[in-house]
Amino acid sequence: MRNELPMSQAVPESPPGQLPRGLPEAARRAGGMLVDRHGRHVSYLRLSITDRCDFRCNYCMAEEMVFLPRAQVLTLEECLRIARIFVALGVSKLRVTGGEPLVRHNVIWLLERIACLPGLKELVLTTNGSQLDRFAPALQAAGVKRINISLDTLRAGRFREITRVGDLDKVLRGLDAAQAAGFQRLKINTVMIRGGNDDELVHLVDFAVQRGIDISFIEEMPLGDRGLGRRSSHFSSDEALARLQNRFVLVPSAESSGGPARYWRIPGSVTRVGFISPHSHNFCDSCNRVRFTARGDLYPCLGNNDAVPLLPLLRAHPDDDRPLGEAIMHGMGIKARGHDFAHQMDTPQVVRFMSMTGG
Ligand code: 5AD
Ligand code: SF4
Repeated sequence: MRNELPMSQAVPESPPGQLPRGLPEAARRAGGMLVDRHGRHVSYLRLSITDRCDFRCNYCMAEEMVFLPRAQVLTLEECLRIARIFVALGVSKLRVTGGEPLVRHNVIWLLERIACLPGLKELVLTTNGSQLDRFAPALQAAGVKRINISLDTLRAGRFREITRVGDLDKVLRGLDAAQAAGFQRLKINTVMIRGGNDDELVHLVDFAVQRGIDISFIEEMPLGDRGLGRRSSHFSSDEALARLQNRFVLVPSAESSGGPARYWRIPGSVTRVGFISPHSHNFCDSCNRVRFTARGDLYPCLGNNDAVPLLPLLRAHPDDDRPLGEAIMHGMGIKARGHDFAHQMDTPQVVRFMSMTGG
């Protein structure tokens, strides 16, 4: 199935308000930060460097996914340029995502350069783990600070069903390799699927405790139409928490990674258990992030179709960052107040899959 994007919102010739004369001035004008129209500071960029993936997770992709032709995908140099501009505008945390970022040829080249951008405090990565066994040391050397690994089940057969093609052992070897390479705060991301993996939540937390890593449970979001609806598979964070409390002592933690997760600690372990609850505990008020896709679209909000297409500007102005900076400032002006997933379980309003926007 071809997953068509809606018409992106066009970038006006003259974005509203005063135009910045240059990137450093724009950043200074906004107190070194990008501020959206609701007063939220945007300091975190999620940069998707490919829409391709070596898995086909059934909540994330259609079975027959058509990927972007190469000419429509940002080159690595363009990805770096985008990262550099956002960091100049005050972004201090950058997550490289996909699809699966580690299937992108020469990804280490890009990561090494992003990690060196002056002003960037944290370069982090989200991966499905399939390539970590060979990339973990290089990622560490490149300056990646933390890695999130998607893992929904510890049963090989089930893993194959959910990912359609994935090999659990390979991902577990990847996790070993990342720990051996010295990554400190590894985190597992688990999408909760009723009837799919909800019987494994305790087991997954046990696994995280044994490994000394963190785990976050994510409520499935209605992103992309997979033709099945998502109501029957919805599993709420509250129900997960209740199940886990039968087995573990969970102490609420005030810690936050600056993101949407709410965390609990398990006394006697280093593990933090997080819940990302886009349905049941809306976190939009504290949203500090925007997303940038591999096809060059800036998505100010994951749960919204508004986008600013930057690829034409990137290519029309190879030596002048100002038009891009202005378009990014414009993107801040259209960032939605929030998402409303609760009413979209049967028919998603966001037509792009997570693999297109970046997790
Ligand atoms: N809802 C919630 N999480 C999703 N992911 C992919 N698609 C969805 C969805 N529809 C998760 C992946 C990965 C992270 C980047 O996003 O499992 O952990
Ligand atoms: Fe690939 Fe991640 Fe989507 Fe699975 S959830 S298909 S691993 S991008």
